[in-house]
Amino acid sequence: MSSTTPTPTTNGGGAGAGAPPKKHQYDPVFTDSVIAATGPKASPRMRQVMASLIRHVHDFARENDITVAEWMQGVEMLNWAGQMSNDRRNETQLLCDVIGLESLVDEITSKLLVGADADYETTKSAILGPFFRKDTPPTENDASIIKNLPPDAEVAYMHGVVSDAATGTPLAGVTVDVWQCSTNGLYEQQDPEQTEFNLRGKFTTDENGYYGLYCIRPVPYPVPYDGPAGKLLQLLDRHPYRPAHIHIMAGNDKYTPLVTQIFDRKTQYLENDSVFAVKDDLVVDFKPITGHSKASLELEYNIRLAAMKPRA
Ligand code: BEZ
Ligand code: FE
Repeated sequence: MSSTTPTPTTNGGGAGAGAPPKKHQYDPVFTDSVIAATGPKASPRMRQVMASLIRHVHDFARENDITVAEWMQGVEMLNWAGQMSNDRRNETQLLCDVIGLESLVDEITSKLLVGADADYETTKSAILGPFFRKDTPPTENDASIIKNLPPDAEVAYMHGVVSDAATGTPLAGVTVDVWQCSTNGLYEQQDPEQTEFNLRGKFTTDENGYYGLYCIRPVPYPVPYDGPAGKLLQLLDRHPYRPAHIHIMAGNDKYTPLVTQIFDRKTQYLENDSVFAVKDDLVVDFKPITGHSKASLELEYNIRLAAMKPRA
């Protein structure tokens, strides 16, 4: 830009790095007056969070000179997400996932629950995603979660020990929920061809903290692409794929529940997960095993849980 270019009077278009902030032309007291409308009975948390949200959303609209037509497109997208959502599909959550919001609030939550200053390492968390089922029945250790074995699947013996992250003591009686999709990229509740609870199990650690099961080597799959989240991905010129992963939820009444995912080191999309959930510590190795009648691969995955913090 030459030195003779006039300075814009609005802040539309965004300032370049190092450029002074541009002055906008909109009512300077409008946002404060909206925040000030909050009544005395609003809870302190509601007052704080909504004031911050209103300020950020107003700044976003001003900074980008959002027009009525553009705002209405956003409203229609949210309406579409709500209309598509039901107890088997949460499109609004998916919209949050593709802009990284579920991953961000997961990071915030785990820092608050475990404590950012803890001097021990817990297993890292990752997003729950929309396909968890609360009602998975209890499963015996060393059972298989494969009710329908696809012809192209590799079977893996997955096992590990759950321990207290601070002391290393193995923990008995911890519930370990595991779920994954089939090789067609669909979870059982998305696919009428799969038996109910296929590729899901809810295990309990024994007196040595051990859990074990047979599962399939996971495959990459696209997040549902036929709704507003898919539309947003297209508009942003992004692909919908997730790297191959297995979901885990582990905990009991004395330990902070862990929700996480483990990712196959050999999978595609580790570097560009469509929902931004990969963490280095969660990348695992499936190793060939021989002389095992039920599996051709082994995956050892130990889990370290944080004891619940006493209430302040
Ligand atoms: C999943 O891992 O199952 C998932 C996570 C976020 C969005 C869609 C799917
Ligand atoms: Fe998944």
